Amino acid sequence: MPRPARSDRNAPKGRPRPKVDHRTRQPAREYELDVLAGLEDVAATELSGVPLARDVRGLRFWFPGSPDRLTRMRSVVAVYRIQSWDVPRPRGLLGNQQLSELTGYLREVIEVGGHRSFRFGAAGKDSPVMQRLAEELQGTLDLPHDPEAGELLIRLRPSEDGQGWDVLARITPRPLSARPWRVCNMAGGLNATIAYAAHKLAGQRDNDRIFNPMSGSGTLLIERDLMGPSAALVGVDVNPEAVRCAQENIRAAKRQIEVAQRDALHTGLPARSFDLIMADLPWGDAISSHGANETLYPAFLTEMHRLTSQRGRLCVITHEIRLFERVLQNQQKWHAHELFQVASGGHHPKAYLLGKR
Ligand SMILES: C[S@@+](CC[C@H](N)C(=O)[O-])C[C@H]1O[C@@H](n2cnc3c(N)ncnc32)[C@H](O)[C@@H]1O
Repeated sequence: MPRPARSDRNAPKGRPRPKVDHRTRQPAREYELDVLAGLEDVAATELSGVPLARDVRGLRFWFPGSPDRLTRMRSVVAVYRIQSWDVPRPRGLLGNQQLSELTGYLREVIEVGGHRSFRFGAAGKDSPVMQRLAEELQGTLDLPHDPEAGELLIRLRPSEDGQGWDVLARITPRPLSARPWRVCNMAGGLNATIAYAAHKLAGQRDNDRIFNPMSGSGTLLIERDLMGPSAALVGVDVNPEAVRCAQENIRAAKRQIEVAQRDALHTGLPARSFDLIMADLPWGDAISSHGANETLYPAFLTEMHRLTSQRGRLCVITHEIRLFERVLQNQQKWHAHELFQVASGGHHPKAYLLGKR
């Protein structure tokens, strides 16, 4: 005879009841992360730290409860809700039942995200079918269609199994990579998800004294400070406009980080002042020229060697890949390995991690 299950009331005293996270009982929704090409592994690692994310397939997964936790991800450009419809073509979404399901699905996204307009990001968004869909949704969602700047970005694509169409809806009105702290933009400003990835892969240690020469608008500084404590965090830039811009962003981020106007090659700082140097070097386009970089890059490696502690690390991000790799080959002081190459704004910069020989 099967033994009757013992109720909790009869559980031995003193033993704590196992806690059940109430979110596990909430219905899960499917999501997909939009990530800069090259940062997929960093995003996957970050996703593995999101409690209750399950059935993870690459950057696609199920997650119960409020998606607020997902909006705190720092390595991703955006998070999309995703739902599939068993229709052969997007035209099928105009059917009564499909349109009502689609409206319900998008309403859920809007309720959480507070989007005030919508647009389509799909290829063929100007086709008559998509225009009809936009007209219909404008009515059913009671939300204006703004084809250029709509906050709810909706993408359509054939399902992976070839059996229908996926509708993806960005859960936040702005991409997550557009950080709220960025009140000052600068030509050459680094995508914040790249800054996050570089810090993660260069190693995040609380006792690091960190230097960010050539700090520009302050992306690497602010992202690091938001990640957690460090023993010191200091930036310099030769351009006073850049220093002002970084200070504005730091204020907006409510952080306290020291940024000064200095030539990174002549700071006057004592040798071995830092354990980690994070540098987004001039790429030779928006900032500086290839000719100037021919001189700057080798001089930079020499001076950073002086400023780094014996077991310190130097992380370099640059789009001047050929020049940087040639300069690396022609020196003996550093060993280096590539961390990642990423596609960003038409560029394909690489990040390297260097250690002292
Ligand atoms: C690619 S940008 C850095 C962008 C920055 N990561 C951001 O997110 O805004 C390179 C920066 O190097 C600065 N720079 C160039 N030569 C320098 C030098 N010798 N010392 C200090 N800063 C320098 C430029 O003024 C520019 O702000």
